[in-house]
Amino acid sequence: MGSLTVRNLPEDVKKRLRLRAAANGRSMEEEIRLLLAEGAAEAPVATKTASAAKGEKAPPKAADATQILLIISGGIAAYKSLDLIRRLRERRYAVRVVMTKAAQEFVTPMAVGALSGEPPFTDLFDQREFDVGHIRLARDNDLIVVAPATADLMAKMANGHADDLATAALLATNSRILLAPAMNPAMWANKATQRNLKTLLADGVVTVGPNRGEMAESGEAGTGRMAEPLEIVAAVEKLLCATTGGKPLAGRHIVITAGPTHEPIDPVRYIANRSSGKQGYAIARAAAELGASVTLVSGPVTLGDVPGVKMVRVESARDMLKAVEGALPADVGIFAAAVADWRTANEGEQKLKKDGSGQPPALALVENPDILATVSKLKWKRPTLVVGFAAETEKVIEHAKAKLKRKGCDWIVANDVSAEGGAMGGDDNAVHLISASGTQAKVESWPTQTKDGVARQLVARIATELNGNAK
Ligand code: CTP
Repeated sequence: MGSLTVRNLPEDVKKRLRLRAAANGRSMEEEIRLLLAEGAAEAPVATKTASAAKGEKAPPKAADATQILLIISGGIAAYKSLDLIRRLRERRYAVRVVMTKAAQEFVTPMAVGALSGEPPFTDLFDQREFDVGHIRLARDNDLIVVAPATADLMAKMANGHADDLATAALLATNSRILLAPAMNPAMWANKATQRNLKTLLADGVVTVGPNRGEMAESGEAGTGRMAEPLEIVAAVEKLLCATTGGKPLAGRHIVITAGPTHEPIDPVRYIANRSSGKQGYAIARAAAELGASVTLVSGPVTLGDVPGVKMVRVESARDMLKAVEGALPADVGIFAAAVADWRTANEGEQKLKKDGSGQPPALALVENPDILATVSKLKWKRPTLVVGFAAETEKVIEHAKAKLKRKGCDWIVANDVSAEGGAMGGDDNAVHLISASGTQAKVESWPTQTKDGVARQLVARIATELNGNAK
């Protein structure tokens, strides 16, 4: 039976099996038997062949399984990815695999499929429904692991390329990304790779390794060896907070405000500000990814609904307050909206007309309710943790500390919204987390990162706080 299978395999697969068997000091049949035995013992019955994966959308993941998308790029360390799949599956993670073209030169889709329990995905354009296929691959997971991550893949990621399935999925994802770099020491030390690494870290990507030691190429040693599979598993578990099944905010309700408010002057005009809502939406997404049940109360923005999040769309500050009160009780309130401080005292029922005198109408303003301060001061329905934002153009920390005290919240995320800071409407944010600590305030300054990065760091910090492991 074994020889029959080997005879029917394509020549290139046979050749790679031969090499693999030789490298492991086994006969080809022993090698195949081992691969099949491992696959059969651990994998649910695979109903499709590797080539059948082409033209298929990602199958939906089991409701309770933590889904990992493993991207294997083309390096000699790819052989260790087989063991990585095995180790992850031992721990009951569902593993779906994308292989780059170069990866298939080092390990076969058949071996990968046997171990992961489903055929790997290999080609962007062979997917009949690739328009949704790679997006679903990118979204339908709890974590993306790239192992090995070659210098080339890191360069593509750092520059936002999307010319194959792996890079398209990496660009389209909202999931956390763990990279296990593996390359020749000179390539790792090269300024270009280090520059790309810096960019990726600033984007919120996490790395494990590379380690120092002997390289697969004879006579080469230095930093560049891929981290061992068990080290990668440990990094995965850390990222997923494995003790809580990867969902450390499961069972928690988080209410978030986002975007600007529009305060009507008359039926066609309003007072507004430049908030895009991006930061609040990113927080809602990140909180939902960690298992929280999220209510997002959003002012008028151009962003679409966040999947899996209860959306409440409002216009004015008063509507926003009403919606927040209606969404309580909650474990956490995060107030990222740029609420208009004032509204007109008398909203015109009809459009205001020029009266011909050349004098503009006098707009009398009254102060809006302060949603953050109102919720912070609630007696019964106050969330356990109330987090405000402080948009400042100068003396950022000093003003934010004063705001923390004045509003009565627990944390303030302070950001510089001066034109130079670029936070307003932009994609990046440099923030300081200020927390009330007795009579003092504690300040943590986070590195400049994307709004997604800030969101993920914030919700991870909230999870730690709520689960009682605060450092
Ligand atoms: N906030 C609120 N309701 C308001 C005004 C602000 O909930 N009417 C919240 C914001 O969502 C943010 C925090 O209060 O979490 C601080 O907002 P910011 O605009 O920085 O401060 P202001 O209170 O408006 O103070 P100032 O304009 O004087 O800086």
